[in-house]
Amino acid sequence: MQIFHHINSIRSALEAARIDNKTVAFVPTMGNLHAAHLALVKQAQSLCDVVVVSIFVNRLQFGLNEDWDKYPRTLEEDSHKLRGIGCDFLFCPDEHEIYPNGMDEQTRVIVPSMANVLCGASRPGHFEGVTTVVTKLFNIVQPDTAIFGIKDYQQLAIIRRMAEDLCIPVKIIAGDIIREADGLAMSSRNGFISAQERPHANQLNRSLQWVLQKVVEGERDFLRLEHEAKEQINVAGFKPDYFTICNSKTLEPAADDDLNITILGAMYTQRARLIDNMSIELDCIK
Ligand code: PAF
Repeated sequence: MQIFHHINSIRSALEAARIDNKTVAFVPTMGNLHAAHLALVKQAQSLCDVVVVSIFVNRLQFGLNEDWDKYPRTLEEDSHKLRGIGCDFLFCPDEHEIYPNGMDEQTRVIVPSMANVLCGASRPGHFEGVTTVVTKLFNIVQPDTAIFGIKDYQQLAIIRRMAEDLCIPVKIIAGDIIREADGLAMSSRNGFISAQERPHANQLNRSLQWVLQKVVEGERDFLRLEHEAKEQINVAGFKPDYFTICNSKTLEPAADDDLNITILGAMYTQRARLIDNMSIELDCIK
Protein backbone atom coordinates (compact mmCIF):
# COMPACT_ATOMS: atom_id res chain seq x y z
CA MET A 1 0.00 0.00 0.00
CA GLN A 2 1.27 3.46 -0.88
CA ILE A 3 0.78 6.24 1.65
CA PHE A 4 0.37 9.87 0.58
CA HIS A 5 0.31 13.01 2.69
CA HIS A 6 0.10 15.54 -0.14
CA ILE A 7 -2.54 16.31 -2.75
CA ASN A 8 -0.05 16.53 -5.63
CA SER A 9 1.47 13.14 -4.94
CA ILE A 10 -1.82 11.22 -4.69
CA ARG A 11 -3.06 13.02 -7.81
CA SER A 12 0.00 11.86 -9.77
CA ALA A 13 -0.43 8.27 -8.59
CA LEU A 14 -4.10 8.28 -9.54
CA GLU A 15 -3.36 9.84 -12.91
CA ALA A 16 -1.04 6.93 -13.65
CA ALA A 17 -3.77 4.46 -12.66
CA ARG A 18 -6.29 6.20 -14.92
CA ILE A 19 -3.88 6.11 -17.87
CA ASP A 20 -3.93 2.34 -17.34
CA ASN A 21 -7.76 2.50 -17.60
CA LYS A 22 -8.20 1.55 -13.95
CA THR A 23 -11.38 2.48 -12.11
CA VAL A 24 -11.06 4.11 -8.69
CA ALA A 25 -13.16 3.51 -5.57
CA PHE A 26 -12.87 5.83 -2.59
CA VAL A 27 -13.62 5.25 1.11
CA PRO A 28 -13.32 8.49 3.13
CA THR A 29 -12.82 7.96 6.88
CA MET A 30 -11.65 9.71 10.01
CA GLY A 31 -9.54 6.69 10.98
CA ASN A 32 -9.66 4.51 14.10
CA LEU A 33 -10.63 1.80 11.68
CA HIS A 34 -12.77 -1.15 12.81
CA ALA A 35 -14.51 -4.05 11.09
CA ALA A 36 -17.19 -1.80 9.57
CA HIS A 37 -14.59 0.38 7.81
CA LEU A 38 -12.73 -2.69 6.57
CA ALA A 39 -16.00 -4.06 5.18
CA LEU A 40 -16.39 -0.81 3.19
CA VAL A 41 -12.87 -1.23 1.82
CA LYS A 42 -13.60 -4.83 0.81
CA GLN A 43 -16.83 -3.69 -0.88
CA ALA A 44 -14.79 -1.03 -2.71
CA GLN A 45 -12.31 -3.69 -3.85
CA SER A 46 -15.16 -5.71 -5.33
CA LEU A 47 -16.31 -2.70 -7.38
CA CYS A 48 -13.17 -1.04 -8.78
CA ASP A 49 -9.55 -1.74 -9.74
CA VAL A 50 -7.92 0.70 -7.32
CA VAL A 51 -9.07 1.54 -3.79
CA VAL A 52 -8.19 4.79 -2.02
CA VAL A 53 -8.90 5.27 1.68
CA SER A 54 -8.52 8.68 3.28
CA ILE A 55 -7.95 9.32 6.98
CA PHE A 56 -8.55 12.90 8.07
CA VAL A 57 -10.13 13.98 11.36
CA ASN A 58 -11.97 16.96 9.94
CA ARG A 59 -12.18 19.71 12.56
CA LEU A 60 -14.64 21.64 10.37
CA GLN A 61 -17.39 19.10 11.12
CA PHE A 62 -16.94 19.17 14.92
CA GLY A 63 -18.71 21.73 17.10
CA LEU A 64 -16.66 23.76 19.60
CA ASN A 65 -17.85 21.59 22.51
CA GLU A 66 -17.45 18.31 20.67
CA ASP A 67 -14.78 15.63 20.82
CA TRP A 68 -12.39 16.66 17.99
CA ASP A 69 -9.37 16.73 20.31
CA LYS A 70 -10.34 13.40 21.93
CA TYR A 71 -11.24 11.66 18.67
CA PRO A 72 -9.01 8.56 18.56
CA ARG A 73 -6.04 8.90 16.20
CA THR A 74 -4.52 5.51 15.45
CA LEU A 75 -2.75 5.99 12.12
CA GLU A 76 -0.16 3.28 12.62
CA GLU A 77 -2.72 0.58 13.51
CA ASP A 78 -5.02 1.82 10.76
CA SER A 79 -2.36 1.58 8.05
CA HIS A 80 -1.43 -1.89 9.29
CA LYS A 81 -5.07 -3.02 8.98
CA LEU A 82 -5.44 -1.48 5.52
CA ARG A 83 -2.21 -3.06 4.31
CA GLY A 84 -3.46 -6.41 5.67
CA ILE A 85 -6.53 -6.36 3.43
CA GLY A 86 -4.68 -5.16 0.34
CA CYS A 87 -5.79 -1.52 0.16
CA ASP A 88 -3.90 0.26 -2.63
CA PHE A 89 -3.59 3.91 -1.57
CA LEU A 90 -3.93 5.64 1.81
CA PHE A 91 -4.29 9.43 1.78
CA CYS A 92 -3.69 11.01 5.19
CA PRO A 93 -3.18 14.76 4.79
CA ASP A 94 -2.64 17.18 7.66
CA GLU A 95 -4.94 20.11 8.33
CA HIS A 96 -2.77 22.60 6.45
CA GLU A 97 -2.90 20.45 3.32
CA ILE A 98 -6.72 20.44 3.35
CA TYR A 99 -7.31 23.96 4.69
CA PRO A 100 -4.24 25.99 3.56
CA ASN A 101 -6.15 29.27 3.95
CA GLY A 102 -7.48 28.36 7.39
CA MET A 103 -10.95 27.08 8.17
CA ASP A 104 -12.58 30.50 8.65
CA GLU A 105 -11.72 31.46 5.09
CA GLN A 106 -12.68 28.12 3.58
CA THR A 107 -15.37 28.12 0.87
CA ARG A 108 -18.27 26.01 2.18
CA VAL A 109 -20.70 23.56 0.62
CA ILE A 110 -24.21 23.50 2.11
CA VAL A 111 -27.10 21.12 1.42
CA PRO A 112 -29.90 23.21 2.90
CA SER A 113 -32.77 20.75 2.68
CA MET A 114 -31.52 18.08 5.10
CA ALA A 115 -28.61 19.55 7.04
CA ASN A 116 -30.45 21.13 9.97
CA VAL A 117 -32.68 18.28 11.14
CA LEU A 118 -31.94 15.14 13.21
CA CYS A 119 -28.15 15.07 13.83
CA GLY A 120 -27.89 18.52 12.21
CA ALA A 121 -30.25 19.98 14.84
CA SER A 122 -28.03 18.81 17.71
CA ARG A 123 -24.78 19.45 15.85
CA PRO A 124 -25.11 22.86 14.12
CA GLY A 125 -22.65 23.20 11.24
CA HIS A 126 -21.74 19.51 11.32
CA PHE A 127 -23.04 18.61 7.86
CA GLU A 128 -21.62 21.79 6.34
CA GLY A 129 -18.21 20.57 7.55
CA VAL A 130 -18.86 17.10 6.13
CA THR A 131 -20.05 18.26 2.71
CA THR A 132 -17.21 20.76 2.43
CA VAL A 133 -14.48 18.22 3.18
CA VAL A 134 -16.10 15.47 1.10
CA THR A 135 -16.30 17.85 -1.90
CA LYS A 136 -12.60 18.63 -1.48
CA LEU A 137 -11.73 14.94 -1.15
CA PHE A 138 -13.86 14.11 -4.23
CA ASN A 139 -11.99 16.80 -6.17
CA ILE A 140 -8.63 15.44 -5.03
CA VAL A 141 -9.35 11.74 -5.65
CA GLN A 142 -11.93 12.07 -8.48
CA PRO A 143 -13.26 8.57 -7.80
CA ASP A 144 -15.63 6.64 -10.05
CA THR A 145 -17.33 5.26 -6.93
CA ALA A 146 -17.39 6.34 -3.29
CA ILE A 147 -18.63 4.22 -0.40
CA PHE A 148 -20.19 5.52 2.80
CA GLY A 149 -21.55 3.47 5.69
CA ILE A 150 -25.33 3.55 6.01
CA LYS A 151 -25.02 3.84 9.80
CA ASP A 152 -24.60 7.55 9.08
CA TYR A 153 -27.86 7.52 7.13
CA GLN A 154 -28.36 11.27 7.12
CA GLN A 155 -24.77 11.87 6.01
CA LEU A 156 -25.23 9.42 3.13
CA ALA A 157 -28.52 11.07 2.04
CA ILE A 158 -26.92 14.53 2.18
CA ILE A 159 -23.84 13.45 0.21
CA ARG A 160 -26.05 11.82 -2.43
CA ARG A 161 -28.04 15.03 -2.74
CA MET A 162 -24.85 17.12 -2.87
CA ALA A 163 -23.35 14.99 -5.66
CA GLU A 164 -26.61 15.25 -7.61
CA ASP A 165 -26.99 19.01 -7.08
CA LEU A 166 -23.35 19.79 -7.94
CA CYS A 167 -23.16 17.31 -10.86
CA ILE A 168 -20.20 15.52 -9.27
CA PRO A 169 -19.56 12.49 -11.50
CA VAL A 170 -19.31 9.86 -8.76
CA LYS A 171 -21.47 6.87 -7.97
CA ILE A 172 -22.34 6.87 -4.26
CA ILE A 173 -22.73 3.40 -2.74
CA ALA A 174 -24.05 2.51 0.72
CA GLY A 175 -22.16 0.05 2.93
CA ASP A 176 -24.12 -2.04 5.44
CA ILE A 177 -24.12 -1.41 9.18
CA ILE A 178 -21.84 -3.89 10.90
CA ARG A 179 -23.01 -4.79 14.40
CA GLU A 180 -21.56 -6.31 17.53
CA ALA A 181 -23.15 -9.63 18.60
CA ASP A 182 -25.74 -7.81 20.75
CA GLY A 183 -26.81 -5.46 17.94
CA LEU A 184 -24.76 -2.36 18.86
CA ALA A 185 -23.71 -0.66 15.62
CA MET A 186 -19.91 -0.52 15.28
CA SER A 187 -18.53 2.99 15.66
CA SER A 188 -15.23 4.64 16.50
CA ARG A 189 -17.06 6.28 19.41
CA ASN A 190 -17.98 2.92 21.02
CA GLY A 191 -14.60 3.08 22.74
CA PHE A 192 -16.05 5.90 24.89
CA ILE A 193 -18.82 3.64 26.31
CA SER A 194 -18.04 2.72 29.92
CA ALA A 195 -17.92 -0.90 31.14
CA GLN A 196 -21.06 -0.29 33.25
CA GLU A 197 -22.96 1.18 30.29
CA ARG A 198 -21.85 -1.39 27.70
CA PRO A 199 -24.36 -4.20 28.56
CA HIS A 200 -27.27 -1.79 27.86
CA ALA A 201 -25.69 0.24 25.05
CA ASN A 202 -27.62 -1.80 22.47
CA GLN A 203 -30.87 -0.16 23.69
CA LEU A 204 -31.01 2.15 20.67
CA ASN A 205 -30.89 -0.87 18.41
CA ARG A 206 -33.50 -2.72 20.49
CA SER A 207 -35.87 0.26 20.37
CA LEU A 208 -35.38 0.59 16.60
CA GLN A 209 -36.27 -3.09 16.19
CA TRP A 210 -39.31 -2.70 18.46
CA VAL A 211 -40.63 0.27 16.48
CA LEU A 212 -39.90 -1.44 13.16
CA GLN A 213 -41.95 -4.45 14.25
CA LYS A 214 -44.86 -2.22 15.30
CA VAL A 215 -44.81 -0.42 11.94
CA VAL A 216 -44.77 -3.76 10.11
CA GLU A 217 -47.77 -4.85 12.19
CA GLY A 218 -49.66 -1.79 10.93
CA GLU A 219 -49.25 0.69 13.79
CA ARG A 220 -49.40 4.23 12.36
CA ASP A 221 -49.39 6.39 15.47
CA PHE A 222 -45.78 7.34 14.82
CA LEU A 223 -45.64 9.99 17.52
CA ARG A 224 -46.68 7.45 20.16
CA LEU A 225 -44.06 4.95 18.94
CA GLU A 226 -41.34 7.62 18.97
CA HIS A 227 -42.36 8.66 22.47
CA GLU A 228 -42.31 5.07 23.78
CA ALA A 229 -38.92 4.38 22.17
CA LYS A 230 -37.46 7.44 23.93
CA GLU A 231 -38.93 6.20 27.21
CA GLN A 232 -37.25 2.80 26.71
CA ILE A 233 -33.92 4.58 26.16
CA ASN A 234 -34.43 6.67 29.32
CA VAL A 235 -35.28 3.58 31.36
CA ALA A 236 -32.08 1.88 30.13
CA GLY A 237 -30.11 4.79 31.63
CA PHE A 238 -29.31 6.85 28.52
CA LYS A 239 -30.45 10.24 27.28
CA PRO A 240 -32.29 10.14 23.96
CA ASP A 241 -31.33 12.89 21.51
CA TYR A 242 -33.90 12.16 18.81
CA PHE A 243 -35.92 9.17 17.68
CA THR A 244 -37.85 9.73 14.45
CA ILE A 245 -39.79 7.74 11.88
CA CYS A 246 -39.00 9.35 8.52
CA ASN A 247 -39.58 9.14 4.81
CA SER A 248 -36.41 7.36 3.63
CA LYS A 249 -35.66 9.82 0.81
CA THR A 250 -36.60 13.23 2.21
CA LEU A 251 -35.95 12.52 5.92
CA GLU A 252 -39.18 14.39 6.65
CA PRO A 253 -41.52 12.86 9.26
CA ALA A 254 -43.16 9.81 7.65
CA ALA A 255 -46.76 10.05 6.46
CA ASP A 256 -49.21 7.21 7.23
CA ASP A 257 -49.10 5.98 3.63
CA ASP A 258 -45.32 6.24 3.07
CA LEU A 259 -43.95 2.95 1.80
CA ASN A 260 -40.22 3.61 2.30
CA ILE A 261 -39.60 4.31 5.93
CA THR A 262 -36.39 4.86 7.88
CA ILE A 263 -36.35 5.00 11.65
CA LEU A 264 -33.43 7.00 12.99
CA GLY A 265 -32.26 7.48 16.55
CA ALA A 266 -29.46 9.07 18.53
CA MET A 267 -28.73 8.78 22.24
CA TYR A 268 -26.12 10.01 24.69
CA THR A 269 -24.08 7.73 26.90
CA GLN A 270 -21.94 9.46 29.54
CA ARG A 271 -19.11 10.19 27.09
CA ALA A 272 -20.44 9.41 23.63
CA ARG A 273 -23.31 10.14 21.31
CA LEU A 274 -24.41 7.02 19.43
CA ILE A 275 -26.55 6.85 16.29
CA ASP A 276 -28.32 4.02 14.50
CA ASN A 277 -31.13 3.46 12.01
CA MET A 278 -33.25 0.86 10.26
CA SER A 279 -35.12 1.05 6.96
CA ILE A 280 -38.09 -0.82 5.64
CA GLU A 281 -39.91 -1.01 2.29
CA LEU A 282 -43.51 -1.67 3.30
CA ASP A 283 -44.64 -2.66 -0.22
CA CYS A 284 -42.21 -5.61 -0.05
CA ILE A 285 -44.01 -7.04 2.98
CA LYS A 286 -46.73 -9.56 2.22
O1 PAF B 1 -18.16 9.50 8.20
C1 PAF B 1 -17.04 10.01 8.42
O2 PAF B 1 -16.13 9.37 8.92
C2 PAF B 1 -16.80 11.48 8.06
O3 PAF B 1 -17.95 12.23 8.27
C3 PAF B 1 -16.28 11.67 6.63
C4 PAF B 1 -17.29 11.22 5.59
C5 PAF B 1 -14.98 10.90 6.45
C6 PAF B 1 -15.99 13.15 6.37
O4 PAF B 1 -15.06 13.66 7.26
